[in-house]
Amino acid sequence: MPRVIYYTASTLNGFLADAHDSLDWLFVVEQAQDGFPAFIEGIGAIVQGSTTYEWVLAHEDLLAHPEKWPAFYGARPTWVFTSRRLPGVTGADVRFAAGSVRDAWPAIAEAAGDRDVWVVGGGDLVGQFDDAGLLDEIRMQIAPVTLTAGRPVLPRNIDSTRLRLEAVAQNGQFAELQYRVRHPESAAASGARGA
Ligand SMILES: NC(=O)c1ccc[n+]([C@@H]2O[C@H](COP(=O)([O-])OP(=O)(O)OC[C@H]3O[C@@H](n4cnc5c(N)ncnc54)[C@H](OP(=O)(O)O)[C@@H]3O)[C@@H](O)[C@H]2O)c1
Repeated sequence: MPRVIYYTASTLNGFLADAHDSLDWLFVVEQAQDGFPAFIEGIGAIVQGSTTYEWVLAHEDLLAHPEKWPAFYGARPTWVFTSRRLPGVTGADVRFAAGSVRDAWPAIAEAAGDRDVWVVGGGDLVGQFDDAGLLDEIRMQIAPVTLTAGRPVLPRNIDSTRLRLEAVAQNGQFAELQYRVRHPESAAASGARGA
């Protein structure tokens, strides 16, 4: 079974993007090394919400320049969750889904094969994977930035019994944190045994 990894960058106070979906605050922060190429090597399928997908389309002008898609995601199948009809990217394996992530999961897992699944965001979609007991790991790169408002990194109540800190590193001005996530039902079961 592939693992589901939420790999992202956030502000110090928990935002993925500002209130206008801008990442300008992120791109100016210095990193010492780009860990993305090594990370994406281990990924077999990608999942994202429609705001994230539309941001990438617009930011890279992908409808006019679909040849730029592989620079981001390679040939990996990408599921976009949306209730709307959105354009695909010519030549890219983009699949649209709506509703329960659990219903979509068997196809996502099969496509990932022996590699992992990257849930790009946004935060609520990651929360839907956690609600379904499918979120396994969080890798967070925290930028030295605060914002008054924006898109939340993970709008769920997940307590410390479910998150295990596994690695901490400095990458330029980013703090990188890696957590293993215990699924809600397994945490509840061991809590009940302990009670
Ligand atoms: N800092 C980073 O590294 C980073 C990483 C990822 C994202 N981002 C940014 O953070 C922001 C995230 O935006 P967001 O919070 O709006 O999240 P999002 O997940 O990208 O988009 C949310 C939208 O996806 C659709 N959706 C989500 N779950 C669905 C489901 N189960 N079924 C059908 N549709 C579903 C809904 O829109 P519709 O149904 O109307 O389509 C929903 O409003 C974006 O600006 C993105 O660019 C930043």
